Amino acid sequence: MNLKNALSLPIFNNISNAADALELETYVIGGFVRDYLLKRNKEVKDIDVVAVGSGIALARKVSQILPNKPKVQVFKTYGTAMLRSGNMDIEFVGARKESYATDSRNPVVEDGTLEDDQNRRDFTINALAIKLNDNGYGDLIDPFDGISDLERKIIRTPLDPDITYSDDPLRMMRAIRFASQLDFMIERTSLESITKNAERIKIITNERIVDELNKIMLSPTPSKGFLLLEKTGLLPYILPELMALKGIDEIEGQKHKDNFYHTLEVVDNISEHTDDLWLRWAALLHDIGKAPTKKFSKKVGWTFHGHEFVGSKMVYKLFKRLKMPLNDKMKFVQKMVLMSSRPIVISEDHVTDSAVRRLIFDAGDHIEDLMTLCEADITTKNPKRFKRYHNNFKVVREKMKEVEERDHVRNFQPPVSGEEIMEAFNLKPGREIGILKEAIKEAILEGDIPNEKEAAIAFMIKKAKDIKLIK
Ligand code: CTP
Repeated sequence: MNLKNALSLPIFNNISNAADALELETYVIGGFVRDYLLKRNKEVKDIDVVAVGSGIALARKVSQILPNKPKVQVFKTYGTAMLRSGNMDIEFVGARKESYATDSRNPVVEDGTLEDDQNRRDFTINALAIKLNDNGYGDLIDPFDGISDLERKIIRTPLDPDITYSDDPLRMMRAIRFASQLDFMIERTSLESITKNAERIKIITNERIVDELNKIMLSPTPSKGFLLLEKTGLLPYILPELMALKGIDEIEGQKHKDNFYHTLEVVDNISEHTDDLWLRWAALLHDIGKAPTKKFSKKVGWTFHGHEFVGSKMVYKLFKRLKMPLNDKMKFVQKMVLMSSRPIVISEDHVTDSAVRRLIFDAGDHIEDLMTLCEADITTKNPKRFKRYHNNFKVVREKMKEVEERDHVRNFQPPVSGEEIMEAFNLKPGREIGILKEAIKEAILEGDIPNEKEAAIAFMIKKAKDIKLIK
C-alpha cells in the first residue's frame, strides 16, 4: 500500500531529502501513521521518525536543511534527538533491537533493522511505518497486519504480550488508554498478560501513570478505561481510594448502592457536558470519602456522614501521592468534592433565597461547574425520580438566576469596607472591624438586608450598638 497522501506536511519532504543525502533508510512511524489511518482529525503535535542508522545524525541534517535551522536536542543515552518545527516536535531515533545477554538480565540495546524496531514497539497499530526515502516514498511497512487491527479495532502487541509488557509495564496502561480513547478491544492474550503482570506497574513513575490516567479521563466514555483498570487488577495500585468504593454491603436487609459503579456513571454523564479535565476528576473523586465514613445503624440504615469533608481531605493526599499538581486545580477539585451535596440538599427541601444565596457565595465562580456535577450525579434508574431530581435542579437554577440578579453575591464585595468602618467609629485596626464586616455579610446572605450600601451602614450602626461599641 502506498500512503504518499499522508505526507502532505512540508516537513516530510525535508526529512526525505536529509535521509537521502545521508543514505539512511528512514520512516515515519507510530502515532502519526495510526492517527492518519484512523482519520482522527486532530492537530499533529508529534512526529516520530526512525532511521536505520543514526537518528541523531539525521536530526542534525534535517535542521541544516530547514530555513530557520532549529536547535537539535540530543539525548545521547537514548540515542535520540528532537527538533521543533512550527508547532510540532519531531523525534528521531535509530532503529534498535533489544537482546538479553545470557549472563545478565539487563537488556542490551543494539542497532537493528526496521523490523527489529517495529518488534520492540507497544502495539501493532503503533508499529505501522511509512517510508520517507525517495525510493519507495509513501510505502507502508506493516509486518504485523496493524492495518486490519485498526479496522477491527483491536489492541494487540507485536510480540508475545508478556515480553512487550515486561519491556515497559506502562504499556499495560497504554493498552487500556488506547482502548478507552479509540473505543478498541484489547485482544484476549494481552488482557490476560496485563492481569498476570499488573503488579509490575509499581516500578513505573507516577508522572507517567498520571499522563495515561488523564488521557483515559479525557476519552469519550472514561468508564471504559476505569472498568478495564479494575478488571485487570491495575486499579488497586493506582487509585485504591476508588477501589474501596466497590461492593454492596447488606445488614438486616438494608443495602447501599455500589459507589464504584455509581461513580463511573457520574464520570460518563459529566463527560457528555464538559471536556474540562479537572471537572471530570472532581466527578471521579466526589464520593471517595464514602468508604471511610460508611456506617450502619438500626435507626437510619447506611450513612456516610461528613464524606464530603473527608473526601476533600483525601483529594490532597491522592494528588500528592500521584505527584499531580498541588495548585489551584487541586483546590478546585477539593472544593467540588466538599460542596458536592450542597445543591442536592437545597433542592430536596423548599428552595429558600438564603440557602441559594449562600450556595452562590460559597461556590463563587465555580457555581456552574458544581451544578453540572450535581446533575451528573443523578444516576437513578427510576424514571419518575430521575425526572423529579432534574426538575428540582431546574428550580434551584431559576432561583439562582433571580437571587444573583438582585443580590450580586457571586463575587461578593462587602458594601462597607474595613476602612469605612474604622472611619465611621474612629477605630484603629482591631477585631471589632472583622466582627462588623462578618455581621454585615451574614445579614445580606440571610436576606435580613439587601446588598446595598445604605442598608449596610444602617445595619452596621445598629450592630455597633449591640456590641456596645457606641451608645
Ligand atoms: N512507544 C512504545 N512504548 C511506549 C511508548 C511509546 O512502543 N511505552 C512507541 C509507539 O510506537 C508509539 C511511539 O512510540 O506510537 C510514540 O509514542 P507516544 O508519542 O508516547 O504515543 P503516540 O503513539 O504517538 O500516541 P499519543 O500521541 O496519543 O500519546
